[in-house]
Amino acid sequence: MIIAIDGPAAAGKGTLARRLAEHFGFAYLDTGSLYRAVGLAVLRAGKSPTDVVAATEISVDLDRRLFSDPDLRAERTGNAASAVAAIPEVRYNLLEFQRKFARTPPDDKKGAVLDGRDVGTVVCPDADLKLFVTAGPHVRARRRFLEIEGRGEAADFEEILTDVRARDERDMNRADAPLKPAEDALLLDTSELDIDAVFLRAVALVEERLKPQ
Ligand code: C5P
Repeated sequence: MIIAIDGPAAAGKGTLARRLAEHFGFAYLDTGSLYRAVGLAVLRAGKSPTDVVAATEISVDLDRRLFSDPDLRAERTGNAASAVAAIPEVRYNLLEFQRKFARTPPDDKKGAVLDGRDVGTVVCPDADLKLFVTAGPHVRARRRFLEIEGRGEAADFEEILTDVRARDERDMNRADAPLKPAEDALLLDTSELDIDAVFLRAVALVEERLKPQ
């Protein structure tokens, strides 16, 4: 079983994907971490994230150690990720890894949950269940703000809101694999619903699909 969860930054898709994977014993892949790793490596190489040649070269042979780098989740890395993610060559180089993970999940798991921006539309168009998790920009910026403050770091709400909007704009308007719900995706708006309610709804949807037809 393949579950595709897409949506904009800070909509709650990561938490939902992780919980679903744990609940059903499926493998989990945060596809954003691949783009973040490319973005971080480009910054560390002293290059611009819009540098097509540098980003493409890095994405061919991605250093897996970056997945556990403490800077992977930084805002700066997220913005660099969204810039390298607009480069078609980078997307192409990361595609096979994601598809292989979905087709043959590690540790012989019986299913995979992948979250990102284009899992339901491009990476796994045949996924068994596609969810598009969304929430208004203010709600998402507030979540990011609380998350950063929770880590004991300084956070500026207006700056975060501007970043969230800029990232949405870039992710939705790029030519290659833009952020949009697949035609057969179910929309879950987390502006009002809390994460437990969203999780229970998603569990019911997966169980429905696991039933023998
Ligand atoms: O989900 P996360 O915020 O970690 O993703 C970072 C960036 O990576 C996103 O803003 C997006 O531009 C890019 N991304 C993507 N396709 C995916 C996952 C992430 O373009 N499947």
